[in-house]
Amino acid sequence: TKNNYILGIESSCDDTSAAVFCDDKVLSNIVATQDVHKQYGGVVPELASRAHQQHIVPVVDQALKKAGITKNDLSAIAFTRGPGLMGSLLVGSSFAKSLSLALEIPLIEVNHMQAHLLVHFINDTNSKPPKFPFLGVTISGGHTQIVKVKDYFDMEVIGETLDDAIGEAFDKCGKMFNLPYPAGPQIDKHSKLGDPKKFEFAKPNVKGLDFSFSGLKTSVLYFLQKQTKLNPNFIEENLNDLCASFQSKVVDILISKLNKAVKQTGIKQIAIGGGVSANSGIREALLEKQQNNQWNVFIPKFEYCTDNAAMIGIVGYLKFKQHLFTDLATASKARYAI
Ligand code: KG4
Ligand code: ZN
Repeated sequence: TKNNYILGIESSCDDTSAAVFCDDKVLSNIVATQDVHKQYGGVVPELASRAHQQHIVPVVDQALKKAGITKNDLSAIAFTRGPGLMGSLLVGSSFAKSLSLALEIPLIEVNHMQAHLLVHFINDTNSKPPKFPFLGVTISGGHTQIVKVKDYFDMEVIGETLDDAIGEAFDKCGKMFNLPYPAGPQIDKHSKLGDPKKFEFAKPNVKGLDFSFSGLKTSVLYFLQKQTKLNPNFIEENLNDLCASFQSKVVDILISKLNKAVKQTGIKQIAIGGGVSANSGIREALLEKQQNNQWNVFIPKFEYCTDNAAMIGIVGYLKFKQHLFTDLATASKARYAI
C-alpha cells in the first residue's frame, strides 16, 4: 500500500514548527523558537506573529528536506486551529490553506490541547501507547488541565486552573528569583542543588480537581519581600533552596490532584503533555508512583513536550485515516475547547 506523507504546522504561540510524518512515524520535526520575547519577560503577540511570518517558509522547507521528500509527495496538511494567540494562529492556518489549495490535497484542523496528549500515539518509542480511557495531564505555560481521554477525539476536562497556568507559576516565581524567562527550566536546574524542605510556601485549598497557583505566587512574593528587607542578598544566597522549595510545592499540588482524579475516575493510566512535563521533579514523582505499582505513567520524549509540530502531525495522521478533513472556511479560534 501507498505511504501517506502528512505535513503538520504549529504556530499557536511563540514557536514556529513544521513536521513531516510517514503514517504514524516522524520523519522530521523542526522548531524555530523566538528569542525576541526574552527581553520582555513574556510573549509579545505582535512580535510573535511577525516572527512566524519570517520563519514559516524556511521551517517548512527544512522539514520537507530533512524528511527527504518534496511538497508534491504530501497527502495532507494539518495545522493548529487553536487555542492560541490569534495573530500567531493566522500565520499557520493561512500558510496551510494556501498550500493545500495549491497542491489540491486535504486540509486537517487540529486542537492544540488534544495534540499535546495525542503525542503518545507517535510511533517512535519502544513503549506502548496508553489505552482508552486514560487521564491526560496538560501542563504548560498556557494550560493546566486534567482530561479524561475516552477516545482520540472524545475528551473531557475534569479539572483545570482557576487562575495562572502551572508554567506561568514557574515563570512568574522564577522572575521573582531574578531568573531569565522562561524560568521553568532554570528553577528545575537550581532545584537539583537545593533543599526542598528549607522554605514552606502556602498550598492552595481548591475544591475538586481544579487548581490555583496565584496564592502560591503571592505567598512567594510576600516571603521574599520580608526576607530581602532583612537581607538584600537573600535571593541570591538562597537561590537553590528557594527553587527546590517552590518546585516541590508545585509537584505536591499536582500529585495530590492526580491522586484525587484517580480515586474519582478509577483510571490509573496517567499520560502527561505540555512544556512543564519536562520538569524533573514532576517526572520523578510520577515514576515513583509507577514503581509503587500505583499508576501506569506515560511521559513523552522531551521534544514532544514543548510546543512542536510533531504533535500536530500525529493528529493529522489520525484524522487522515478517519477522513476528518476541513475546508478553507475554517476560522482560527483563540479559545477552542478540547
Ligand atoms: O508547552 P510549552 O512549550 O508552551 C505552551 O504552550 O505554554 O510550555 C512552556 C512552559 C513555560 O512556562 C516553561 O517555563 C515551562 O513550560 N517549562 C518548564 C520546564 N521546561 C519548560 N517548567 C518547569 N520545569 C521545566 N524543566
Ligand atoms: Zn502548548
